[in-house]
Amino acid sequence: MKMLNFILFGLLISSCLCDGYRILAVFPTPSPSHGILGDSFVKALLNAGHEVVYISPFKKINHQKLEIIDVSQNLEVFSDKNIDVKAIMTGSLNLQDPKFLFGMTTTMTDVTLANPNVQKLLRDPKQKFDVIVAEYFFNNIFSTLSAVYDAPFIWFLTIVPHSLILDQIHGPMNPAYSSDYIEARIAPYSFVERVRELYFTLTLLYNLHVAFPPIEEAIYHKHISTILKSLGKPIPDYNALTYNVSMVLGNSQVALESAVPLPPNFKHIGGYHIDDDVKPLPGNLKKIFDNAKNGVVYFSLGSNLKSKDLPEDMKQGILKVLGELKQTVIWKFEESFPNTPKNVHIVQWAPQQSILAEPNLVLFVTHGGFLSVTEAVHFGVPLVVIPVFGDQFMNANLVVKKGIAVQVKLSYTMYNELKVAMDTVLGDSKYATNAKALSAAFHDLEMKPKDALNFWVEHVVRTRGAPHLRSVAIDIPLYQRMYLDLLALILLTPAVLLLVLRRFCCKSDSQKVKRS
Ligand SMILES: *[C@@H]1O[C@H](CO)[C@@H](O)[C@H](O)[C@H]1NC(C)=O
Repeated sequence: MKMLNFILFGLLISSCLCDGYRILAVFPTPSPSHGILGDSFVKALLNAGHEVVYISPFKKINHQKLEIIDVSQNLEVFSDKNIDVKAIMTGSLNLQDPKFLFGMTTTMTDVTLANPNVQKLLRDPKQKFDVIVAEYFFNNIFSTLSAVYDAPFIWFLTIVPHSLILDQIHGPMNPAYSSDYIEARIAPYSFVERVRELYFTLTLLYNLHVAFPPIEEAIYHKHISTILKSLGKPIPDYNALTYNVSMVLGNSQVALESAVPLPPNFKHIGGYHIDDDVKPLPGNLKKIFDNAKNGVVYFSLGSNLKSKDLPEDMKQGILKVLGELKQTVIWKFEESFPNTPKNVHIVQWAPQQSILAEPNLVLFVTHGGFLSVTEAVHFGVPLVVIPVFGDQFMNANLVVKKGIAVQVKLSYTMYNELKVAMDTVLGDSKYATNAKALSAAFHDLEMKPKDALNFWVEHVVRTRGAPHLRSVAIDIPLYQRMYLDLLALILLTPAVLLLVLRRFCCKSDSQKVKRS
């Protein structure tokens, strides 16, 4: 018996040793929603028995197999607080410009790599990793970390698949039917829209292949090349590294996006950040739900729309519109009002997942952050979406297209439109029915998102970078994929023939002239 115990114990130990990998997780974006995605990703890895070194500006999780590399400096350099909502509302600020985004995010990557804590980690020759996972944030520089550790590399994508990331593992998406998060349109397109999408994709390709790489490469040489040199390792070509990504894990599910064709190394793990067991509501909110005879509307515009940015008229307008509802309203806002209507409850803090899980919740009014939209779809709640910036327009259009939402344009006078939108969703049961159906499709997966996350990360390690899943298209130059060489041949051949013929005719003509 003792012997058997001993063997079992030995088996247990050895299985732990070979099951747990050492993983570098790079999530340096200093924004609360990105922090939630990073923390949840790392928690899922830790719960599966892996050891994680986590580059993060937040220090929210603790675990004996976790080491956090602190880049909280990023919080000082970039902050959601710097987003000027007034300028967005008056139209003087456009955060949708790819060049602006690229500039901001490459600077962030630069600052992250220059961080002394990160430098110390990268220069430590004792560090070994089985795989690297990094959040994709509009540039490719982190994928060169694979050269530092000779480890396969995985991108984590925070939003729905787009051409920028697919260009790294397959090729750009076909603009005739795919969406980009900046123009935020959803197919099918009119002729003009289709041409605009093509134009957008061509500009993007120009930026990706011509304008941006020298800037990225300079950062690669500034930080990574020097480290490779100091470690005595070869310095690979920048493109050889950035087009050598093993996998993309997308924070999305097909049910919640357009079902675009994707390469085999793109895997969906959307919904992994949602708790398996949603915590019960705290007492005060529970009471509000228990007393709500006509259901509850949850109103939360995320952390970007701060009270200080909204004029008094606008706040009073919203308050009045909410007060006219027969439903009970929970408004997450940092300011309360002396004249708050009886049915409106303002709370500074709200456990969003617990609220969305309540069967008595009839509507969620949101800014359309991808986490909020994912959670609403997960719990089957219809929406009114007021997008503010970034991918939120795209997210809004997606849920409108799915028939579970109505969209409202952000403006100082939006409360009139908001009233119409809320009445529409609350007055027609099709929105709630569609939301339940979409939720069912969202859940009907072969693996739970957290399990899929671990399975694919481990698969990449087990198969040394999963070369069998790589798209064959990545090795074929774009002009060959599009048969531009054949097109050139077809167009050039008649032209050449014509030239030769003319030459021949003219020659014989001139000969004739000579002879006569
Ligand atoms: C590409 O990735 C694979 C798998 O991680 C690795 O074996 C190979 O050395 C990488 N190639 C380059 C050029 O880095």
